[in-house]
Amino acid sequence: MHIHNLSNTPSVLNSFVSEIRDKSIQKDSLRFRRNIERIGEILGYELSKSLQFETHKTETPLGVSETTLHKKDIVLCSILRAGVPLHNGLLNYFDAAENAFISAYRHHKHDPESFEIVVEYLACPSLENKTLILADPMLATGQSMVATFEALKPFGNPKEVHLVSVIGAQQGVDLISKAFSNNSHLWIAAIDETLNDKGYIIPGLGDAGDLAFGNKLQQ
Ligand code: URA
Repeated sequence: MHIHNLSNTPSVLNSFVSEIRDKSIQKDSLRFRRNIERIGEILGYELSKSLQFETHKTETPLGVSETTLHKKDIVLCSILRAGVPLHNGLLNYFDAAENAFISAYRHHKHDPESFEIVVEYLACPSLENKTLILADPMLATGQSMVATFEALKPFGNPKEVHLVSVIGAQQGVDLISKAFSNNSHLWIAAIDETLNDKGYIIPGLGDAGDLAFGNKLQQ
């Protein structure tokens, strides 16, 4: 897997990541969602440089402009619910993309420190020979990405796979590096040190879904 950790090159992206982490700024959910969306736009822009391009002629009022445009074969898949603002950011740039949504959540049976990933709702177009972008803002254990990819298999074999995350833990990055093929890509804004007992990224930012959409009752 090709890992593109964008924090290795300091840029304006770091300001948005710093704001979503900051415990006073992140409480403003409108700003939190917009910052995640802005991060999605930047990750999408960086990712776009690795897509396949083809020559295109555009007729202007005064002549013909020849340029290269990326192939319009993208399926953008996000994991509900935390993935929605990241999805919006990516869709702002890949506005012709087809879209897929999947729900994946951590089901704690008895022990609050152990869980399994349950995949339920899934709506997806054909993935056969398409460019799949799979977005999950928090790459903690990596199990959601792997479970989601498994659930997408009946929809066809994508020709390229790009995973997009905002913050990851090294453990999650290691897991998906093993689970995904060598020619897939991870585009990520920051990789943190570790996970706590409950599987939250440390230092991370807390619960991305709650910060974007409000607290949920744990089941
Ligand atoms: N999901 C989150 O929202 N935050 C984490 O730290 C890990 C998973």
